[in-house]
Amino acid sequence: MKNANGLIDIEAVLWEDKSDDIVAQILSDFERFETENRTMENIGMVELYQPRHTLIGRDGITMIPHFLQRLSAKKVLVITDKGLVKIGTAGKVTAVLDDANIEYMIFDGVEPNPTTKIVYQALDFYTKSGCGALIAIGGGSPIDVAKAVSILSANGGRIEDYNGVNKSKKHGAPVIAVNTTAGTGSECTRAYVVTDEDTKSKMLMVDTNCLAHLALDDPMLMVGMPPSLTAATGIDALTHAIESYICNIHTPYTDALALESIRLVSKALRRAVRDGSDMDARTDMCWAEYMAGLSFSNAGLGLVHGIAHQLGGFYNIPHGLANAIMLPRVLEYNRPYCMGRLASVAQAMGEKVDNLSVDAASKKAIEAVRKLCADVKIPPLCETKFSMDDIDTLAAHALQDTATQTNIVRPTLEDVKTIIAKTYYEGIIMKQVKVNG
Ligand SMILES: NC(=O)c1ccc[n+]([C@@H]2O[C@H](COP(=O)([O-])OP(=O)(O)OC[C@H]3O[C@@H](n4cnc5c(N)ncnc54)[C@H](O)[C@@H]3O)[C@@H](O)[C@H]2O)c1
Ligand SMILES: [Fe+2]
Repeated sequence: MKNANGLIDIEAVLWEDKSDDIVAQILSDFERFETENRTMENIGMVELYQPRHTLIGRDGITMIPHFLQRLSAKKVLVITDKGLVKIGTAGKVTAVLDDANIEYMIFDGVEPNPTTKIVYQALDFYTKSGCGALIAIGGGSPIDVAKAVSILSANGGRIEDYNGVNKSKKHGAPVIAVNTTAGTGSECTRAYVVTDEDTKSKMLMVDTNCLAHLALDDPMLMVGMPPSLTAATGIDALTHAIESYICNIHTPYTDALALESIRLVSKALRRAVRDGSDMDARTDMCWAEYMAGLSFSNAGLGLVHGIAHQLGGFYNIPHGLANAIMLPRVLEYNRPYCMGRLASVAQAMGEKVDNLSVDAASKKAIEAVRKLCADVKIPPLCETKFSMDDIDTLAAHALQDTATQTNIVRPTLEDVKTIIAKTYYEGIIMKQVKVNG
């Protein structure tokens, strides 16, 4: 059982066999692995990333004035979207600012899968407003726009200058990230995502300077999410956890976060979708998405996100949905390189795997993911705006995506095309089977 580096898949072997020979072979592989990796940056040292402050739990928004007092900003810009203004979620936060006599302005022009154009509009608004801090209210889209404004206001230049890892020099204006979905984890990650207007591809900026001053997760703000949004954003969190757990730069720290997140999503997501007012389920999902965010922010993602970013950029498919659709097939592709890890995923998802071979246990994880996606009614790829005509471009962009770089194995263009095509045709066949009864 070899992994992507041609070495023994340690977890897979230990799952089945702990004999002295195998342990000796693992140790010699391990030495080789260490030698191979000596050229990597930061060998022997891992930097951990997190927001400056975090509040998780009910009524956290009442603490915002306290955190603002610690900043010198006289006026703040609220960045949100029209949907959250309409349903009153943004108003709950601005009411707290009103009560504390904090001066603010509102930019509510964010849309899902925000584009460079929206970022520049928000930046222009911010620059002219005289504000000194940002409060993002929303899911990943408003939070990511606030992070982009923060970086651009401090560093200048164009958004594409920051595509990649740690491209900015200065920390931007402080961001208070009030999260309303569960979710992207954007409130706690060192990442933000913006769609390039020209290429229709999503740029993933990984940047320590974008970490929020305060990450705020209040499950009460998530109660109003409709079932389809709860489902899609919940599987986004699951995808963060699984991809970071099996990626090629995970650590014991991210493993712990990822496994507990997987356990919580498996326990709570169906309930949160069925009954949005189930506060235990909402609270579990709140923790799950936060831990999954921290996990991938400190490890990496993988090919599921690499492809999902293209589906979001090209067709404006909601981010969580794009991940949910791609997750099972990408896991099948990755499985030979991370069977042991997937066996542990199955266990965290509550599957009975004790007496199974690692091969069978790892398959259980993929079955459990498929079952969860079906139970929360994730539609197939063929029911989205996706067109097979674009597959070459999508696959080429997915290969270049920052998220793909940490996938456990390096895919080829043909691999990516095959995964997308299989996902598409599988959906068509399943629909046909349903029609034929
Ligand atoms: N920065 C990161 O680390 C990171 C990680 C993953 C994804 N993302 C990005 O985040 C974006 C997706 O964010 P998202 O999935 O959270 O959704 P979103 O922010 O795009 O919001 C989607 C819709 O849900 C509505 N909504 C949000 N909260 C609601 C609530 N509580 N009740 C009712 N409606 C609500 C919004 O008004 C909007 O119409 C994508 O652009 C994705 O690429 C960023
Ligand atoms: Fe995501």
